[in-house]
Formats: sequence, structure tokens, C-alpha cells
Amino acid sequence: ELLPVIMAGGSGSRLWPLSRSLYPKQFLPLMGKDSMLQETIARLAPLPCLSPMIICNEEHRFVVAEQLRQRHYDHCGIVLEPVGRNTAPAITAAALMALELQSDPLLLILAADHAILNPGGFTDAVSRAIPVAEEGKLVTFGCTASTPETGYGYINIGKALSEEVFQVKGFVEKPDLETAEQYVKSEEYLWNSGMFLFKASAFLHELEKYHPDILAHCKEAIEERSLDLDFVRLGDAPFRACPSDSVDYAVMEKSQNVAVVPMDASWSDIGSWQALWDINRKDDNGNVIAGDVFPQSSRNCYINAQHRLVSVVGADDLIVVETKDAILVANKHKVQEVRHVVTQLQQSA
Ligand code: GDD
Ligand code: MG
Repeated sequence: ELLPVIMAGGSGSRLWPLSRSLYPKQFLPLMGKDSMLQETIARLAPLPCLSPMIICNEEHRFVVAEQLRQRHYDHCGIVLEPVGRNTAPAITAAALMALELQSDPLLLILAADHAILNPGGFTDAVSRAIPVAEEGKLVTFGCTASTPETGYGYINIGKALSEEVFQVKGFVEKPDLETAEQYVKSEEYLWNSGMFLFKASAFLHELEKYHPDILAHCKEAIEERSLDLDFVRLGDAPFRACPSDSVDYAVMEKSQNVAVVPMDASWSDIGSWQALWDINRKDDNGNVIAGDVFPQSSRNCYINAQHRLVSVVGADDLIVVETKDAILVANKHKVQEVRHVVTQLQQSA
């Protein structure tokens, strides 16, 4: 059986003003009734899984517990980080915790904020990856790289290990645009989905090779953990002192023991308002609307009204997001810049 580990510690700043530091995108119902976190857990149903472990920031503990309770989802621990130290320490802490629950479980590492329009493709890919991970490989899931996204990692596919399982020749996290364009053209690369399957021991072995410092801090944070209701609170001082790094830079780019399984799941990281427009159902004029919205002679807009009636007249490719205390009006082709607004607001606060 797999032990799913769901990383739910991101800030989702590019989906401001709907995504806020106290309520980031993984807890929002961006695609339907369920939040992204709830959808992530629902997607596990067809797989041979234990109840998931959730790892998130301390300040989101009640949101997480409440969202699980609403759907009657069990868990095998909600692990709390005093501060975000990115995904490498989060996965390390989860892997060490998991080793206390089971002798050497297969960990299915998932992000809490991905959209998967074809869940069967996800299940298939994970099933194909199980025997490969059991052999000790770190398995990544690769999606067809259709556009030169610079916010993703890229996996250079090597020779086939078995049917629809490949060696990894190289892994490049967040290349520049020119490089990403070459990768897309070459058709020798897949996007890294940011989901992984590996034995806890296999991951920790690679981490020890490349980042013994992260391992040491996380071990200490586990030793000094405290229990509080459903929550496992990591030791504050050692976790704070842990270097911050993503699993992609800390391990995946360096390890020689990585395999890739292609995943045909219509996957998206929903990294921006444009991405959310892309994957949602549109009206006859190509508009995606949510809430009390009245578009007039407008095309290909994304309009989300939370508290008031919003009308958009004669606009193309516009993003309008209305919330109680903030409104975003943005050009759909400039949405990556929304995160700079958040940075500046934080600096001036
Ligand atoms: N618990 C915890 N703690 N979770 C975290 C933390 C943290 O400090 N930081 C991020 N996460 C969670 C996020 O909520 C998200 O679900 C996931 O880990 C990935 O983090 P992101 O910050 O969104 O990473 P990214 O999008 O820049 O890049 C990663 O994902 C891409 C695909 O979405 C990389 O793996 C890329 O290679 C990949 O293409
Ligand atoms: Mg992401």
C-alpha cells in the first residue's frame, strides 16, 4: 500500500486576491465544489492507499482539519511546520515520520494544488510507477511539455526501462525561456509534475548524499516534535534553522537514480489566472465566470465576483477578480506579474 504525502504549504500568490496568506489556493474551490486539497484526496480513491499524511504550515492547521472533516477523510497525521522551508524539508520530515508508522513505505508525494482533468490518467501512471519505486528508484511523473513554461521543471527522457517507464538523462528545474523553447521543440523533455513516488529510504539515502544538513535538521525537528490533538508539531528551533530548498534543486537535479513515468492526465499547476481560465468551462464568448457576473460584448475574459455584482463591457482577454477588500483587473497575458503586487503589498504593510 502507498502512503500519500500531501504538501499543502504553498502561498499561491499569483492567484491574489482570491488566494490570501491565511487562505491560499490549495484550500479554495477553484474547479467546482471541493477545494483543491479535497480534490487531491478524492483522486486517491482507486489506488491501494493508506490514509494520507498532510504537511502544512502551522497557521493553516484548522483549515486543513476542517476540510478533511467535511468530507469524512481520514489521515495518518497532519504535520505542522513552524515556517515554510520549501519542499525538500517538508518531504524529509514526512519521510522520517512515515518510517515510524511503517517499516519502509512507498511514499506518493503530491501537491495539494494541482488540477487533473483526467484522473484515470493519474491512476494509471501511479500504478505503472509502483514496481519501479519498489526497486528503489525515485519516480517522477512527466507531462507533455506543450508550451515553454518557465515555472516548471523539465525532465530529459532517457532509454526505456520497461513499458512507459524511462530513465532520466537529466532534470532541469525552471529553465529560462530560450532553454524551455528548445526543450519543447526537441520533444525529448516532459514537464515535471511535482508528484513523486519513492521508498522513504531511497529518498533519504539520496538526500543524505547531497544535503546531509537538511536531513540532520529534520531529524532533530522530528525528535523534538510535540503532539497537539490531531497535529504533529515539528520542533520549532531545528526546523527554523533548516536550510530552505526545493526537492527539485536539492535532490532531483542531482540524483542519478531517477526514473520518469509519463502521465496523460490533463494536468495543470494552476499557477495563474490565465491557467484557471484555460482549464475551466467557457460560455459561448469564451468567458469563464464565477459568481454574480454580467459580461456584455466581452470575450475570453475570466471574471470572478465574490461579494458584488460585476459587469464587464466590451473587453477582451481581461481578468477581473472581485473580493470583499481587494479587486484585481489584469491583462490576461500579463498575469505572472500578479505575484509582484503581492510582494509589494507585503513590503508596504
Ligand atoms: N508543506 C509544505 N511546506 N508545502 C510546500 C512548501 C513548504 O514549505 N512549499 C511549497 N509547498 C507545496 C505547495 O503547496 C505545492 O503544492 C507544492 O509544494 C509545490 O510547491 P510550489 O512552490 O508550487 O513549486 P513550484 O510550482 O514552483 O515547482 C514545483 O512544481 C512544478 C509543477 O507544479 C517543481 O516540482 C517543478 O519542477 C514542477 O514543474
Ligand atoms: Mg506550484
